[in-house]
Amino acid sequence: MSDKIEKRLEELKKLLKYHNHRYYTLDEPEISDSAYDKIFYELIGIETEYPDLLSLDSLTHRVGGAPIKKFKEVKHDIPMLSLDNAFDEEEYSKFDQKLKEKLAVKLIDYSVEPKLDGLAVSLRYEKGLLVQAATRGDGSTGEDITHNIRTIGTIPLKLKSDNPPAVFEVRGEVFMPKKAFDNLNIKLARKGENLLVNPRNAAAGSLRQKDPKMTAARPLDFIAYGLGTFQGIEAKQKYSQSIKLIAKFGLPVSPEFKIAKGLKQCLAYYQDIAKRRESLPYEIDGVVFKVDRIEYQIKLGFVSRAPRWAIAYKFPAQEETTLLLDIDIQVGRTGALTPVAKLDPVFVGGVTVSNVSLHNQDEIDRKDIRKGDTVIVRRAGDVIPQIVAVIMSKRKKGARRFKLPQTCPDCGSKVEKLEDEAVIRCTGGPTKCSAQRKGALRHFAQRRAMNIEGLGEQLVDQFVTKGLVKDVSDLYKLTLDDISNLDRMGKKSAQNLLDELEKSKNTSFERFIYSIGIREVGETTALLLANEFNSLTDLSAAKFDELRAIENIGPVMAQNIAEFFENKSNQMLISNLLSSGLQWKSIVHDQSKESKDFKNKTFVLTGSLQQMTRDDAKQEILKRGGKVSSSISKKTDALIAGEKAGSKLTKAQTLGVKILSEQDFLTLL
Ligand code: IVH
Repeated sequence: MSDKIEKRLEELKKLLKYHNHRYYTLDEPEISDSAYDKIFYELIGIETEYPDLLSLDSLTHRVGGAPIKKFKEVKHDIPMLSLDNAFDEEEYSKFDQKLKEKLAVKLIDYSVEPKLDGLAVSLRYEKGLLVQAATRGDGSTGEDITHNIRTIGTIPLKLKSDNPPAVFEVRGEVFMPKKAFDNLNIKLARKGENLLVNPRNAAAGSLRQKDPKMTAARPLDFIAYGLGTFQGIEAKQKYSQSIKLIAKFGLPVSPEFKIAKGLKQCLAYYQDIAKRRESLPYEIDGVVFKVDRIEYQIKLGFVSRAPRWAIAYKFPAQEETTLLLDIDIQVGRTGALTPVAKLDPVFVGGVTVSNVSLHNQDEIDRKDIRKGDTVIVRRAGDVIPQIVAVIMSKRKKGARRFKLPQTCPDCGSKVEKLEDEAVIRCTGGPTKCSAQRKGALRHFAQRRAMNIEGLGEQLVDQFVTKGLVKDVSDLYKLTLDDISNLDRMGKKSAQNLLDELEKSKNTSFERFIYSIGIREVGETTALLLANEFNSLTDLSAAKFDELRAIENIGPVMAQNIAEFFENKSNQMLISNLLSSGLQWKSIVHDQSKESKDFKNKTFVLTGSLQQMTRDDAKQEILKRGGKVSSSISKKTDALIAGEKAGSKLTKAQTLGVKILSEQDFLTLL
């Protein structure tokens, strides 16, 4: 073997290390996957030819060796413990109080970090090299998963140290980042394979692969949260110092790691992490508080399998299991038939869930959801609850596959499935199908549309069932008698509704566009159209090509809009609405000099304005030739931020979008 080869080998190792760091740690790859592979395979080539050169820290271990037959057992020198839980402030306060009494101190410093939802592993480094990795198992004996752990890019195979300790055991959590999990599921769905239920299960399944190549294909990550046994270094006095040492050796530790002084700061930390939970790149199920001083930890000791010096303060669970009692079919305003699972009510993610949309037949088939199944329900943050999977082992014998009906359950018309759509639709249309009529009314009345307060579900049902309202324009023909004769309506509430209807007549162009229910035209598109067209006359005369030419309006949307306005009964509906007195301020584009500044400029409004309504602010912008959008992007010219501005403000800051206060805006006007 020549020196040249050895030199090349070192070069390749260095290159890979560099690109691994860019890819896994910085998330900023510099070269394509295939360019990376090329370097990688050159290295494998040399190592295969000259096996003597294969060192334990070689990065080629990352692709994994040959599959193993059985996991070997690993006895933990120091047991891997579990944590006690607190589920509310009171439980956590009691924990802190007890510790203070036991230690006879007034205030305790805690090391605090998120509780990652993955799997505990112990990594053993000897003289700086990763020699063994094991699962927690029963706490005293785990399984040897070294071959799989080596495939995780962020776990160093060699510690960053010129003088590494003889033995250094690091404990931490292996997990699958949320984004990686979503991408993996997309890939699996494309291949028609079963989807993974959640990142935790995905990580667990990946780590238990017998073939490390399978693990290598799963994007896992690791964060260290403690030490096991060690030799050749001095014991630290504080847990936080151990974490610093672990980081110094090149292992990932939590970027959220902090010291909290006493109960109050711990609670503030819990609140802060809870608020940011959804935006963290990995799943967490709480925060962990650990007494920082090791001397105190030793004094406090353990109870059964958990230390007395640490506690997990858990968030409300985001996943629960429950029984799927039945599947209802709901018909919406556009005729779409939506299967809805009726659940045995279950408390999950902070609310009680009893109905969950199953979306369409494909979704039901993919998850193989049947009546009577035991299912896992998930509600994370403000996301709509969903069924993530069926627990197949609990399926009752004889449970049959569920098929959506061939006819509309409301009007009996045939259903159809358009080529590009996942949903099936009732062909009856609003004239035949009362469910579609009710849907249109509910849509029209909602807060974000015409904002008719008091026109709820029950009234809508009665109006349609009694034949009082055939389309939304009939709402404005209702009399006091019509309304007060309905169930649970007196003269007073009937008058209130009439007042609300009257009030709703003064609206804005974009609200009107949204309210009339053009298929797929949501609030954002409605605003876009109101920005683009001077008047309803212009909008309704717009042909496909003109609509298609507008940025962010695709062909399907353009088609829907053009067809809507060409339809005779829609024309009639609009004309009836206008004759009932519906109106909005028309936008007169100001041709004066100062208007030039706003031309082609896009603004976003957020928070509450004190000196004008948002609608007024919008009008002022539009009048001057500017545009108003509902979401921030790099293209946004300025964000006008009123009081209590939230996520839009943060986003604008991140994207470097100009931020104007209400006063700045007024000055500009
Ligand atoms: S410390 C002696 N810290 O939670 C203390 N555990 O419920 C041992 N976990 O088995 C654990 N994030 O898998 C600790 N920041 C963190 C953690 C964490 C997640 C897991 C770990 C442990 C389980 C206990």
